Amino acid sequence: MVFRIDLTARLEPAIEAAAYFVVSEALTNIAKYAEASAVEVEMAVQAETLIVRVCDDGVGGATRGKGSGLQGLADRVEAVGGRLEITSRRGRGTTIRAEMPTSVLASLRPTGQHVHPA
Ligand SMILES: Nc1ncnc2c1ncn2[C@@H]1O[C@H](COP(=O)(O)OP(=O)(O)OP(=O)(O)O)[C@@H](O)[C@H]1O
Ligand SMILES: [Mg+2]
Repeated sequence: MVFRIDLTARLEPAIEAAAYFVVSEALTNIAKYAEASAVEVEMAVQAETLIVRVCDDGVGGATRGKGSGLQGLADRVEAVGGRLEITSRRGRGTTIRAEMPTSVLASLRPTGQHVHPA
């Protein structure tokens, strides 16, 4: 298994959590179904976007909808403003790729200037 992690700073907790779940679910699926001989995990920030990629050379055929794992990941990634892409053809391995903005949530944080109703 090869890891390529190119991160220099901590990210929004919600983004880090989503990235953790992407890698965790992808590796769990690989262990359960892929029969892979090689696995790569990559993480990098490019243009304020975190890219998480987990790729295997196994049997392929991953689809969202069969179980709750991949659909749950897509929901979680979309909830932080990102998107999840699943590329999986029979016999051609599987790539799970998530893109998440690293700055959006910070700008949505309360600023302390909210007016609370009396
Ligand atoms: N890396 C992979 N290689 C081959 N098949 C995969 C891979 N990942 C997922 N699959 C296939 O896609 C299906 C859907 O995966 P998903 O994670 O959504 O559900 P699950 O793992 O079956 O159930 P759950 O995640 O809810 O425990 C799996 O049942 C499996 O058939
Ligand atoms: Mg699963």
